[in-house]
Amino acid sequence: AFPKHVRLVEVGPRDGLQNEPEPISTAIKLELIDRLGAAGLSYIEAASFVSPKWVPQMADHQQVMKNIARLDGVTYAALTPNLKGLEAALECGVEEVAVFGAASEAFSQKNINCSVAESQERFTPVLERAQQAGVRVRGYVSCVLGCPYEGEIAPAKVAEVAKALFDMGCYEVSLGDTIGVGTPLKAKRMLEAVSREVPMAQLAAHFHDTYGQALANLYAVLEEGIAVVDSSIAGLGGCPYAKGASGNVASEDVVYLLNGLGIESGVDLDVLADTGTWITQTIGRPNRSKVGVALASR
Ligand code: HMG
Ligand code: MG
Repeated sequence: AFPKHVRLVEVGPRDGLQNEPEPISTAIKLELIDRLGAAGLSYIEAASFVSPKWVPQMADHQQVMKNIARLDGVTYAALTPNLKGLEAALECGVEEVAVFGAASEAFSQKNINCSVAESQERFTPVLERAQQAGVRVRGYVSCVLGCPYEGEIAPAKVAEVAKALFDMGCYEVSLGDTIGVGTPLKAKRMLEAVSREVPMAQLAAHFHDTYGQALANLYAVLEEGIAVVDSSIAGLGGCPYAKGASGNVASEDVVYLLNGLGIESGVDLDVLADTGTWITQTIGRPNRSKVGVALASR
């Protein structure tokens, strides 16, 4: 059965922008975060405390995190792959952080420069330190429906990595179809395997739309009881370590789908669509939200 309410995790300022080759000013990032909050999104992944050599676009993470005009009831989160990132994020008043691992050995090496087992050793102290600081930690698993280097990924492997993150203390595990290759039945089968190890209420869907399947995949997992969905304004994005990957499913498209299903999200679609129009015009990108384009041309 479908959930009554879905919590949207807006990853546009992070996943959406991290791959942009031209530097985007901190002021634009802050305005984007403001507008997303004003649209009613209650969870915004605002920055990434990773190495600026690896992801130059996120180099201003401290300036972003420190200068957000925080709204009550909105969580502003950041990625923190290691203790160094976590310490820096804590100094900037981050409310919540995320660690990110993969269900693929090859992707783990390319993305975070270590094996899956080593990543878990790195995350353990991050979780301990975050817990001490009273900061909740989300966990990501990448490549849950396929890997750009290894191809097919077994659902059992995804379940194993998701369980490890959950057991280590991640309150929620987000399942990433990093390169957007999944299809609905495959997504359901993967979720079936994972939800045997981690409760459904602690799982999120993080689908990219490279092959145009993200909304169909979402419909499939919503039906199974997924109630947290990651999305990106205007469908912005791509992953620096997954060539050809397009953005996350567009937030506007997800809200339109949820509205049609009678599922509450608390998001104002018109304000959201205006935000998508604004950010794509500002950074010179096409708007990859069909709903956003349709609403803008009314
Ligand atoms: P490493 O080289 O193994 O780490 O990188 P290291 O500890 O050996 O440090 C090397 C250098 O990086 C040092 O600097 C450190 O100070 C610096 P140097 O001495 O050479 O000048 N460094 C840092 N600087 C800033 N912040 C830090 C930090 N840590 C080390 N936190 C590391 C390991 C993880 C840092 C690196 O591989 C990295 O930054 N990777 C970035 C990966 C990334 O951001 N990928 C995109 C996000 S994940 C994603 O998009 C998928 C997701 O959306 C879900 C999905 O779609 O599937 C989440
Ligand atoms: Mg992603």
